[in-house]
Amino acid sequence: MDHFRLALVGLGRAGQFHLQSIRQLAQLELGYVIDADQGLAAQTATAHGCPGSNDFSLALSDPTLHGVIIATPTGAHYSQILQALEAGKAVFTEKPLGETLKQIRECYALAEKVERPLMVGFNRRFDPTFSSLAAQVVAGSIGRPMLVRITSRDSPLPTLEYLKTSHGIFHDCIVHDLDMLRFITREDPVEVYAVGSNFVPEIQAINDLDNVLVTLKYKSGLLATIDVNRLATYGYDQRIEAFGDKGMLQAENRSAASTVLSNAEGVGRPKIEHSFPSRYREAYVEELRAFARTLQVPSQCPITEQDVCTSHQLCDAAQQSYREQKPIKIELPMQ
Ligand SMILES: NC(=O)c1ccc[n+]([C@@H]2O[C@H](COP(=O)([O-])OP(=O)(O)OC[C@H]3O[C@@H](n4cnc5c(N)ncnc54)[C@H](O)[C@@H]3O)[C@@H](O)[C@H]2O)c1
Repeated sequence: MDHFRLALVGLGRAGQFHLQSIRQLAQLELGYVIDADQGLAAQTATAHGCPGSNDFSLALSDPTLHGVIIATPTGAHYSQILQALEAGKAVFTEKPLGETLKQIRECYALAEKVERPLMVGFNRRFDPTFSSLAAQVVAGSIGRPMLVRITSRDSPLPTLEYLKTSHGIFHDCIVHDLDMLRFITREDPVEVYAVGSNFVPEIQAINDLDNVLVTLKYKSGLLATIDVNRLATYGYDQRIEAFGDKGMLQAENRSAASTVLSNAEGVGRPKIEHSFPSRYREAYVEELRAFARTLQVPSQCPITEQDVCTSHQLCDAAQQSYREQKPIKIELPMQ
């Protein structure tokens, strides 16, 4: 079988990029659009020519539906994943999969029991630039990696309503970067240290951080840093540098146009991509293409339970380091 009908649940920012991606993939057909906001579901259904509802169980009771894409707020993922798997549907879920390691393991155990794939959307692994950088590091292009630096600065500032349900900067944002480090280095760190601060009063008021630096040490001697900020005023700043004993690889920011203006004032370039829907547009298509392949051959899911558990545990360790103001030793697999 190479054609799959899916329901998309959650039609906010992430739901919108998934709608765009599905339209580009001939293997996937939008079976239902579901959102707690009935008006949004109805409007999206009309635009995409499929049924729309605020009732997830309506889609799950359709025997012709193969799977679901979950793009609801983080706190809803766990129960909706269980609900979909229990109905015998394959699941693609936005990150983070669950709120605890126990929840993540429970979801994978159920997926195994009902023999349906479960894939988490670590979209950055599917970005052509980042995946090329990772492949070259693995192929030895820079020799022995000594330092990897990831810069990950958001734009625009998410709404306060989103931030309140985001589960905090570690599990909402830094989880992507910790997963990317694993993807590039194929190694897990032995120690993590995190510091953080606030510049946005609204974020401080909800006891979250908007400016974080994470450093990691590896057994091989490799060091890594992740610097994350909730708001870069000049656009969505997403860069990676990998430095080794034979060279350096850099993944630079992207602009919609590559024109360069040189004049008496200096040299000017167009602004970088404004936000994630445009910066990662290819990645969002490719992750769903990979999900379609996984629906055909479930054993080939590119994001494994171990990937998801490890990135979750590394997030917890980084958060613990911030709270306790000290480096945390990491022994994987942690309990
Ligand atoms: N991978 C990425 O690049 C990326 C980018 C943005 C968001 N995300 C993730 O996607 C998820 C959604 O984030 P967002 O920015 O789209 O949020 P959002 O607030 O823009 O949209 C969430 C939507 O879900 C609906 N909703 C809420 N509860 C629901 C429920 N129980 N059932 C059905 N619909 C429900 C809301 O009405 C809203 O339309 C989050 O988990 C976030 O971490 C991932």
